[in-house]
Amino acid sequence: RGPEMVSPTGVPTGAPAGSASQSGAYLTTAQGLRLSDTDHSLKAGTRGPTLLQDHHLREKITHFDHERIPERVVHARGAGAHGIFQSYGTGTRITRAGFLAKDVQTPVFVRFSTVAGSRGSADTVRDTRGFATKFYTDEGTFDLVGNNIPVFFIQDGIKFPDVVHSVKPHPDREIPQAQSAHDTFWDFVSLHTEAQAHTVWFMADRGIPRSFRTMEGFGVHTFRLVNADDQTSLVKFHWKPRLGVHSLVWEEALMINGVDPDFHRRDLANAIEAGAFPAWELGVQVFPDTDDEMFEGIDLLDPTKFIPEELAPVQPLGLMTLNANPKNYFAETEQVAFHPGHLVPGIDITNDPLLQARMFSYLDTQISRLGGPNFAQIPINRPQAPVNDMLRDGMHQSADYAGVAPYRPNSLDGGCPFHAGSQDGAFIDIPQPVAEGVKIRDAAATFDDHYSQATLFYRSLSTVEQSHVIEAYTFELGKCYETAIRERQLKSLANIDAGLCSGVAAGLGLPVPEPEQQPGNPQPSPAVSQVGRKWPTD
Ligand code: HEM
Repeated sequence: RGPEMVSPTGVPTGAPAGSASQSGAYLTTAQGLRLSDTDHSLKAGTRGPTLLQDHHLREKITHFDHERIPERVVHARGAGAHGIFQSYGTGTRITRAGFLAKDVQTPVFVRFSTVAGSRGSADTVRDTRGFATKFYTDEGTFDLVGNNIPVFFIQDGIKFPDVVHSVKPHPDREIPQAQSAHDTFWDFVSLHTEAQAHTVWFMADRGIPRSFRTMEGFGVHTFRLVNADDQTSLVKFHWKPRLGVHSLVWEEALMINGVDPDFHRRDLANAIEAGAFPAWELGVQVFPDTDDEMFEGIDLLDPTKFIPEELAPVQPLGLMTLNANPKNYFAETEQVAFHPGHLVPGIDITNDPLLQARMFSYLDTQISRLGGPNFAQIPINRPQAPVNDMLRDGMHQSADYAGVAPYRPNSLDGGCPFHAGSQDGAFIDIPQPVAEGVKIRDAAATFDDHYSQATLFYRSLSTVEQSHVIEAYTFELGKCYETAIRERQLKSLANIDAGLCSGVAAGLGLPVPEPEQQPGNPQPSPAVSQVGRKWPTD
């Protein structure tokens, strides 16, 4: 593997070594030919036309012409850092994953991102933040591709293109946050009311974090863990920042975006450079792996639902410390490729229909973003574990494969790695019952409750935080041109909380609608709090 494993301070990191393409004392062409002049093209006389034979000119310009690759279709703007994950060993009861055994150190690379904006957009916009972590474990790479909000917009990945289309700039003027983007976004969330729970979270202060260093992270979906005895449990992953959770207020966010649109990436890089290494504790909420995959009446396969920590405390598994900045943004932060299907033995997925669609989407999009199927060979994407695959050729293939032909078993190739007993340490698909039933495009009835958790979250906020939510809805809906969309969204707010609805309605100068009876009503106790909770280890 290319990346070196030890930082200048002796702490292992995933930071890659310097590039071999910049060795030597002289400037050269890509072929290593030493150059005498890179400022003047070869011409027919000092005032004559440029000659086609000037290969240095053509190589230099041609390469420049192809410097850009497509930005990510979502999460295009991001900042990354290297670090180390130190496990406590507390997870061995529930998972056989080697990197969670006692005192194992695993290099990591993390990329934080916004979702909607383009690669050059500003940092302190109101948005969900991505929190994607690549663990370079001895058993293969594990990616935890999460967000800073524990619930998602939609319940089924088939709607992902739709929700993203609604939030991206309108096709005619390509102006983000213009009339059309507000109308389309609020049109979507008021028509697809499963999005209401996520929307309250990012209308709250978590939508404008103070720093990447002060964000929580969530795996969002329920995952299935498998221990050494093949026993399974269901879990939700959490990252808890050692610096606590802090946000900006809206006026600060607006001013910072004007003064320093790179505020979050600068903050992360400066902190690491100064040795103030940010750290997060990784933990899991653990649920029994029951046939119905429910916990306390909440459907664990519905990604728009979270489990309050009062019902299932987060059990700490280890500590991640980010201790090295990338040496090259493009090589590392831009080219890193995360995938929720990058799993290790002991961690498996569930039937959450959003997660199932993600299993397809990431590899598919990376083939076009990173120019073909061989991007796992880019240094930042190379596993730390030995690789012995049967994938061959294709664009940008750089591996020098030996052997007769890549098929197994293969009696001509000097032995076959797959034989009885070779499953030790391998990823095992634990036999799981699959639902018997008719082929159907529908969801379980438990997915119909779109409001109870929005209420739960809103009522867990302090009065000041609730006032920020009311101001945020009023500001954002105030940018909608269609009154019908504002009124439809107010109906959803009436289903969430009467005070929230009347506060926003007053700000918009619209009448307060009556709440509708919804699946999941009456609302759960407002005493259950998701915010300001204590560490389970305190
Ligand atoms: C990228 C999180 C749902 C498609 C990302 C990234 C994060 C993320 C953090 C940025 C990765 C990076 O930094 O490189 C999530 C979460 C989801 C979710 C937490 C739901 C819980 C979906 C769904 C789809 C999807 C449902 C499609 C069906 C994509 C694509 C990218 C992406 C295409 C760009 C990947 C690339 O170009 O490398 N997602 N996502 N995501 N996500 Fe998701």
